[in-house]
Amino acid sequence: MTKIAVFASGTGTNFDAILKAIEEGYLNAEIVLVVSDKSDAKVIEKAKSKQIETFVFNPKSYASKTDYENEIVSKCIGKKVEWLILAGYMRILSTVLLDSYPNRIINIHPSLLPAFKGKDAIGQAFDYGVKVMGVSIHYVNAEMDGGKIIAQKSFDVMPHMTHDDVEKEVHKIEHQLYPETLKKLWEEIK
Ligand code: GRF
Repeated sequence: MTKIAVFASGTGTNFDAILKAIEEGYLNAEIVLVVSDKSDAKVIEKAKSKQIETFVFNPKSYASKTDYENEIVSKCIGKKVEWLILAGYMRILSTVLLDSYPNRIINIHPSLLPAFKGKDAIGQAFDYGVKVMGVSIHYVNAEMDGGKIIAQKSFDVMPHMTHDDVEKEVHKIEHQLYPETLKKLWEEIK
């Protein structure tokens, strides 16, 4: 069984999708830790309701990123975490985390990378008027939304689709693509 930590700062719908895939026996994994830089993130409530350990930190209470990442690494090591799964964690990682988990940190981004990196990728793509949108899952490196792509899935943006419609479609794809990609990856590696 693969032990994972989910890093999230938001609603945690991808956390929900991964947890559901585990509970249904689709993914042979266990979420042993949820890491967040936002104490009021909904994902924290959700993790607690499932008795999953959480580590919530306030970056401002640390002298540097190195300091808080060192603490994250020791929490992860303490829980025997093998993979770090980022889902809406809005911070660039430093070498502290990257070197502790080489090729073991993955992120999901709501665009067809390398297009539309950063915040509000869906809004950026929609405003640009792109006709094909999608989701990317990639290894994490020191650049924002950088790192080698593992999986992508696209859809056509039809003329009648509103911002809300494309957002819903992106999330629908995310919730299916993340568990599916993790499953394939862990099967390939083991
Ligand atoms: C997702 O759209 C993900 O692609 C991006 O942040 C969002 C997190 O959503 N990195 P949620 O908290 O999983 O609902």
